[in-house]
Amino acid sequence: MSEPLRIAIAGLGTVGRGVVKGLQQDAALLQARAGRPLQLVAVSARDKHKDRGIALPADIVWCEDATQLLEQPIDLLVELIGGAHGIAKTLVEGALAKGIDVVTANKALIAKHGLQLAQLAEAHHTDLRFDAAVAGGIPIIDVMQHGVAANRFERICGILNGTCNYILSHMQSRGIAFDEALAQAQAQGFAETDPSTDIDGMDTAHKLAILTSLAFGTQPALESVQLRGIRSIDALDIKAASDLGFRIKLLGVAQPLPDGRILQRVEPCLLPKDAPLARIIGAFNAVQLEGHALGRLLLEGQGAGELPTASSVLSDILQIARGSQTEVFTVPAAELQPLAPATADAMQCRHYIRLSVRDEAGVLAAIAGVFAKHTISVESLIQREHQPDAPTSIVIITHECSAAAVQDALSAIAALPIVTHPPQHLPIQE
Ligand SMILES: NC(=O)c1ccc[n+]([C@@H]2O[C@H](COP(=O)([O-])OP(=O)(O)OC[C@H]3O[C@@H](n4cnc5c(N)ncnc54)[C@H](OP(=O)(O)O)[C@@H]3O)[C@@H](O)[C@H]2O)c1
Repeated sequence: MSEPLRIAIAGLGTVGRGVVKGLQQDAALLQARAGRPLQLVAVSARDKHKDRGIALPADIVWCEDATQLLEQPIDLLVELIGGAHGIAKTLVEGALAKGIDVVTANKALIAKHGLQLAQLAEAHHTDLRFDAAVAGGIPIIDVMQHGVAANRFERICGILNGTCNYILSHMQSRGIAFDEALAQAQAQGFAETDPSTDIDGMDTAHKLAILTSLAFGTQPALESVQLRGIRSIDALDIKAASDLGFRIKLLGVAQPLPDGRILQRVEPCLLPKDAPLARIIGAFNAVQLEGHALGRLLLEGQGAGELPTASSVLSDILQIARGSQTEVFTVPAAELQPLAPATADAMQCRHYIRLSVRDEAGVLAAIAGVFAKHTISVESLIQREHQPDAPTSIVIITHECSAAAVQDALSAIAALPIVTHPPQHLPIQE
């Protein structure tokens, strides 16, 4: 029989637990597909006595100090601790430098240090795989590296954070406010106690930076992602968008501009209700790839959770067991180009705008005057029903215009005495 692949797992939380279960429960199936046994030899987590719902046989070495995993006789380190710095980075760097292959689900680590880690992997002829880092159970990295690798990508667009999609879907289906939907997401285990990485968009930005690099052959450039989360989305926006035929989704979008710069943005957007991404509800994720030969390809699935994420980690382990080699970002690290970032200012699209104004004569004329001055043409303008003594909402859909023009117009409108709250403004993604 072929030599077993000897594996160490660092981190036995949600994902680590799922990977151990898979290795134990599906050992025969995985061995058949790998062509050799997958042998768990060592693990590490903080608390040895925590009940994790898994049984670890006595011959599996428990390392109190995770760095001790690298001293074990292993071929592969599976890093499932998380975090861009600290022990996760130390372990991954240490493993690659020692000639030990690495599988990780750590999006923050790859988004921030991916280039350096790819260089390290190449220098030591080791493999670094991270399919679980983007969109959990959706095999998007593998698809981009292999299945659609003959395409020039025109745009990558994804719902990459299940927490945000759950919150926005619940605001939509139940007509509830953001805070209530967030509390429900937390109660259901779909949001962390501190949800800021998810709802402020950074989690999506990590994943987008990785996808951008794979799609456009650029060095991961997390710092140039234009970032806006979903905290400002009001139930009024969800309702108004719905009445106008749209859904609001937090999207991560990467697209090259004709001048070669690349725009990476994470922001809530309106999507026509019949757009494929608009139909992704709850905690699900989806990635839409647009390639010159392929046209559109949509992959939808569970973006997080024990078994879906373990599914991607185990697939990466299988690839390594089979000995298949792929460059970390598909092309050699030295060929990854520095990303020339673009800002969204020049982006031409329709825009959704909601203004809160006093219910007074002349309001509409004042607003129309500002839009005309900024050469923004209005497709529709609706004055929403309002409660007595409460401000009136005016919802506007513009024709295609630049985001910079809209921002300038809204700065002018916000300064008008008739405006009671800062304007809401969201792009419409066609
Ligand atoms: N959860 C998901 O659905 C999901 C989806 C996609 C990607 N990911 C990524 O997968 C990774 C793991 O996420 P998770 O949700 O499984 O995290 P988690 O549930 O918080 O588990 C983290 C694990 O790391 C262990 N740990 C923490 N510090 C350690 C240290 N210094 N030495 C050894 N072990 C240490 C913890 O030990 P104790 O258990 O003893 O505290 C725990 O077992 C992260 O990079 C995350 O971004 C997660």
